[in-house]
Amino acid sequence: MIVLDGKKTAQDLKEEIKETVAAIKKSGKRAPHLAAVLVGNDGASLTYVGSKVRSCDYVGFDSTLIRLEESTTEEALLKQIAELNQNQDLDGYIVQLPLPKHIDEEKILLAIDPTKDVDGFHPSNFGRMALEMDAFIPATPFGIMELLERYKIETAGKHCVVVGRSHIVGRPISILLSQKGPAGNATVTLAHSRTQQLSELTKTADIIVMALGIPEFLTTSMVKEGVTIIDVGITRVADAAHPKGYVIKGDVAYAEVAQKAAAITPVPGGVGPMTIAMLLKNTLLAYQRKG
Ligand code: GUN
Repeated sequence: MIVLDGKKTAQDLKEEIKETVAAIKKSGKRAPHLAAVLVGNDGASLTYVGSKVRSCDYVGFDSTLIRLEESTTEEALLKQIAELNQNQDLDGYIVQLPLPKHIDEEKILLAIDPTKDVDGFHPSNFGRMALEMDAFIPATPFGIMELLERYKIETAGKHCVVVGRSHIVGRPISILLSQKGPAGNATVTLAHSRTQQLSELTKTADIIVMALGIPEFLTTSMVKEGVTIIDVGITRVADAAHPKGYVIKGDVAYAEVAQKAAAITPVPGGVGPMTIAMLLKNTLLAYQRKG
């Protein structure tokens, strides 16, 4: 059984990006520049954004963190976005989600210039991705493709069952796995909360991508021997015994499913760490595409 080590793979990727950035700077050019907008004080968002900014420093990118108050109006946020769209010194930026309830998330995402949308959440990028044109692919599905490719997991002709149809994970990964190219050419079934007899489906799968958000949902009786498991779940489950008061659980009952799997991503340390590395990769792509 192979553990698909996202932490190590993400570190390898960061080292590669760091080398590329060093060469860019050595040639006298400016560094790639990523900005992150964070509205409010959500604990998890603060952690994620902090980690993104630190990773920029690590690889030698310039970074800007824009913190706005929880009470920021939609109008004020749109104004901030218009400024970021205009800023010539900026290659890409993200608006950390979720946004406060009084702000229309869709309106905000539509306002982001698609050429700076390194999260790949704008419909233009989603459409371009689906049509196999140059696009920014959202970090989580992009990270899964990178992991499959680097570990040389055979996907061509295999049956992949994706569980979960979210706009940022399930739906895009189902498209990418079926496309031509590396880590593609799979036969994909997209399952979701209304799927009937899910375990009959997952039992036929060569590869399962779990992106449901229900801790330890996938158990050993639902999979076949030799399956590859990609676990995207990261649910905080209360645990008084832990100093933080919670533990992070994936969508897969790891200990039992790992016994049957040929390859599996752990949680934490699997898909999670890949997402920041892929955000950096998208920022580098934005810089390079700008020429
Ligand atoms: N919130 C949770 N994950 C993400 C992400 O990848 N990008 C943004 N912008 N917000 C998030």
